[in-house]
Amino acid sequence: MTSTNKTTVLRLDASVRRNGSVTRDLTDTFIKGLVAQDANATVVSRDLAAGLPLIDEAWTNANFTPAEDRSEEQKAKLAQSDALIAELKAADVLVVGLPIYNFSIPTGLRSWIDLIARARVTFQYTEQGPKGLLEGKKAYIITASGGTPVGSGYDFATTYFKHVLGFVGIHDVTVIAADQMALNADAALEGARNQIEDAVSGLAEQAKAA
Ligand SMILES: Cc1cc2nc3c(=O)[nH]c(=O)nc-3n(C[C@H](O)[C@H](O)[C@H](O)COP(=O)(O)O)c2cc1C
Repeated sequence: MTSTNKTTVLRLDASVRRNGSVTRDLTDTFIKGLVAQDANATVVSRDLAAGLPLIDEAWTNANFTPAEDRSEEQKAKLAQSDALIAELKAADVLVVGLPIYNFSIPTGLRSWIDLIARARVTFQYTEQGPKGLLEGKKAYIITASGGTPVGSGYDFATTYFKHVLGFVGIHDVTVIAADQMALNADAALEGARNQIEDAVSGLAEQAKAA
């Protein structure tokens, strides 16, 4: 939590569907539940399906140029990445709607990762190996799938995203899954909603105690 005891939540949605999206519906449930229990919570929302720039050669060169040597053009090239990183750094809690697409993550979320994973900004290499620089945050990954069991050997979505979060220093990660919706949607949704209820109560309790 921030020093003012206000919880700042960053909500990311990645489904390309705006209507009928399971993950958007569940992230909504999470956020509404949290705000109902913690009136001080501030929510910042970013819709990754709205489109983010893809990194390219000029972006990479700008990123690899020491900050003090960057041209105005290079600074402009990194502006979107800087903004996303500032948003992430300001958050105490990350709530991410992550549909499984082709056993992996949606392109919008992948672009977000490319833009926020920056050496010396969100991670650094040390003699002991890579070290994440974003500490003290919690993350909730809210995922949905048609047939892929979450956590299985062919779920490259939650396992990959969890790894990336850990790489930048976010280790307190809870996966909430409405998976295998094609088999039993009602059971999958009920399980996810119960998990959300527990997570939200836990967070609200923590905010009260802080
Ligand atoms: C492009 C695309 C690829 C998908 N690939 C998979 C997949 O690999 N495994 C799976 O179980 N479901 C897959 N699905 C089904 C989605 O995971 C499922 O519909 C989920 O509810 C999508 O999230 P949303 O409802 O928030 O849009 C895919 C759906 C789409 C649109």
